Amino acid sequence: MSYLDDLFGLQDQTAIVSGGAGVIGTMMSAALLSAGARVTLWSRTQESVDAAVTKLATSPESADRVDGRRLDTGSETEVETALNKVIARFGSPDILINAVGGNFSKGPLVETDMEQFKQILHLNLVAGLMVPTKVVAAHWIKNQIRGAIINLTSMTSYNPLSGVWAYDAAKAGVLNLTMAAANEFAPHGIRVNAVAPGFFLGKQNRALLIDEKTGEHTARGKAIIEHTPFRRFGQVEELVGATLFLASNTAAGFVTGISIPVDGGYLAHNI
Ligand SMILES: NC(=O)c1ccc[n+]([C@@H]2O[C@H](COP(=O)([O-])OP(=O)(O)OC[C@H]3O[C@@H](n4cnc5c(N)ncnc54)[C@H](O)[C@@H]3O)[C@@H](O)[C@H]2O)c1
Repeated sequence: MSYLDDLFGLQDQTAIVSGGAGVIGTMMSAALLSAGARVTLWSRTQESVDAAVTKLATSPESADRVDGRRLDTGSETEVETALNKVIARFGSPDILINAVGGNFSKGPLVETDMEQFKQILHLNLVAGLMVPTKVVAAHWIKNQIRGAIINLTSMTSYNPLSGVWAYDAAKAGVLNLTMAAANEFAPHGIRVNAVAPGFFLGKQNRALLIDEKTGEHTARGKAIIEHTPFRRFGQVEELVGATLFLASNTAAGFVTGISIPVDGGYLAHNI
C-alpha cells in the first residue's frame, strides 16, 4: 500500500451518507468510494436514490460497493431499519456523513412563516443531524466501534446571513452540536467533525443565488461573490480533500470537534 493509501485509504470501511443524493452528498459519496469504502446513501425519494446510485456506479467493481435507500432521516424507526439494512449488506458502518439539510425561506423577521421556520429547523437539526447521529452512535457505542461523523456546517454557523432566520439558527446549532457530541463521544473513540462549505449551488439554494429566467446571479448571489476573496462559488469537487481527511482515522485520528471551512476565503474576508 502506498503512503497516501495508508493515510487516506478507506478500504474495508463502510460509510452512510445521509442526503447522499444531494449535490454535496453525491460528491462526498464519490470521494469515499474512490478511497475504497462501501457506501450507502440515504435520500428522501426513490427517484433521487436511483439517480445517485446510477451516477456513482461507474464500474462493476464500484457498483458492488454502492447502494441507496429511500427514507426520511427525521424518523427514528426508519433510520433504525435503514441502519439494519446497511449492516446486513455491508457490515457495521464506520463513517456517517450527515448531508441532509438546506434552506428554502428568506425574508424579514417580522414576516417569518413560523411553519416554514420549524420545517427548516427540523430539516437541518433533526433529520440533518440528531436522528442519524443518535441511532448510529448508539450502535457504535454498543459494539465498541470507533466511528467518524462528518456534519455539514455553513458560513451561517459562524456569522449570520441576512433574512434566513431558521437556517442561521439551525446551522449555528449544527456547529454547537458537532462540538458537544465530540465531547460526549470521545471516550468511545468516536470522532465528530464538520465541513463548512462556503457557497456551492445546491438544489435548495439555487433559486436564491441564480435568477432562473436570466441565468444571471441574483443580488444575493452577487453580494456573496463580492464577499468571497476567490470571487466565485465553490465547485463541489473542492470539498473532497476535507471530507477524506476527516473520514480517515489515520489522517485525523486526533481530530474531533472541529469544522473545516472550504469557502474561498469567505470567513477571512476584510475591507
Ligand atoms: N450548497 C451549499 O452552498 C451549502 C453551503 C453550506 C452548507 N450546505 C449544507 O450542506 C448540506 C447539503 O447541501 P446540498 O447543497 O447538497 O443540498 P441538496 O438539497 O442538494 O441535498 C440535500 C439532500 O437531502 C435530501 N433530504 C432532505 N430531507 C431529507 C430527509 N428528511 N430524509 C432523507 N433525505 C432528505 C434531499 O432529498 C436532497 O437530496 C446541507 O446541510 C446544506 O445546508 C450547503
